Amino acid sequence: MFVLVTGGSGYIGSHMVFSLLEAGHDIIVLDNLCNSSELSINRVREITGKKILFVQGDVRDRKVLNKLFSDYDVSDVLHFAGLKSVGESCCHPLMYYESNVAGTVVLCQAMAAAGVFNLVFSSSATVYGDGHPMPLHETLPTGSPTNPYGRSKLMIEMLLEDLTDSVHPWSIALLRYFNPIGAHESGVIGEDPLGVPNNLLPYLGQVAMGRRECVSIFGNDYPTLDGTGVRDYIHVMDLVEGHLCAMQAIHKSSGLRVWNLGTGRGYSVLEVIHTYEKISGCNIAYRMAPRRPGDVAACWADPGLAAKELGWKAKRGLNDMVRDAWYWQKKNPYGYQIS
Ligand code: NAD
Ligand code: UD1
Repeated sequence: MFVLVTGGSGYIGSHMVFSLLEAGHDIIVLDNLCNSSELSINRVREITGKKILFVQGDVRDRKVLNKLFSDYDVSDVLHFAGLKSVGESCCHPLMYYESNVAGTVVLCQAMAAAGVFNLVFSSSATVYGDGHPMPLHETLPTGSPTNPYGRSKLMIEMLLEDLTDSVHPWSIALLRYFNPIGAHESGVIGEDPLGVPNNLLPYLGQVAMGRRECVSIFGNDYPTLDGTGVRDYIHVMDLVEGHLCAMQAIHKSSGLRVWNLGTGRGYSVLEVIHTYEKISGCNIAYRMAPRRPGDVAACWADPGLAAKELGWKAKRGLNDMVRDAWYWQKKNPYGYQIS
């Protein structure tokens, strides 16, 4: 039986493929390569010495999906494929609703037609919206995400919930990620953003390497310990290990399950910058800038439910995350294309 990983050549998906192979699964990756390259999959093939079937195609393409499900016996789908830039989603909302929401609809239609009902979905803490006290627990009501990207995640959560109330025996996990960072400890795979990075860690890496002059800190007047935004950063390898546990758990019964994947601890932007400086030995120039629209002051998980129900807990701390992010950055200053 195969595990289908949509978006498997992207940042999180490629780490997932590594973990699945190590756990003994046979894998098919479906990715349209709009935000990645097959080089990441080649790297996973290199470090594991294992076979990965790769299909270049789009989750919105029913023909591709039908062929894939008829050619291979698929037991589970891990659905990472989608667009993830908040700023871009504000400029091109239809692109986001089409790729993320319509893509998930087509994928689920093809799964149902093939009799495949086990699905793990990459959701985000953004679905909680703003205004809850920290930490965020799965029993809190979802809120109003501040942008089309976040709303597409919430819409997908709602449509998947409807599926689990339908006639088919769906087993679905909604995994709400906090802030995945870091890289596989080999430094062979990692995060390779196109253009100017939107997220903090890849930006810091490029400043440390001298590719960018200085990082802007978006807001130093938040009600946090040092005024800068606080987030629950989670090592990407911990995150994908959480998926393995969720995949096993949903096999036990049908229905919808929701788990936070975070560490339960928040760090401020300044704390992360100082950790990056300490670990890399590089000076990271920064300047204070206005708040970024849509940002919240602080966000961290209550990871207790995943600990209780999945037996999963993040093992790696901020030093490990930054060490592995930095090692990847040093070994691959320009990402996968030029090493
Ligand atoms: P990524 O962009 O590196 O990976 C997504 C992959 O999906 C890319 O390889 C891209 O080419 C592919 N893809 C996009 N649209 C597609 C489509 N229509 N058909 C087929 N392939 C398509 O992003 P990532 O950081 O690895 O994120 C993976 C998932 O996790 C996304 O759904 C994202 O929204 C979600 N997520 C990410 C974060 C984060 O901080 N990285 C946080 C919360 C949730
Ligand atoms: C962002 C998205 C979130 C998405 C996630 C992964 C927003 C509001 N949220 O999370 O929906 O799931 O990325 O793609 O965009 N920061 C700086 N300077 C920078 C970059 C970031 O100060 O150059 C700060 C931010 O203000 C924030 C923290 O660093 O306080 C983390 O930012 P980032 O890595 O972009 O993640 P989020 O904003 O939490």
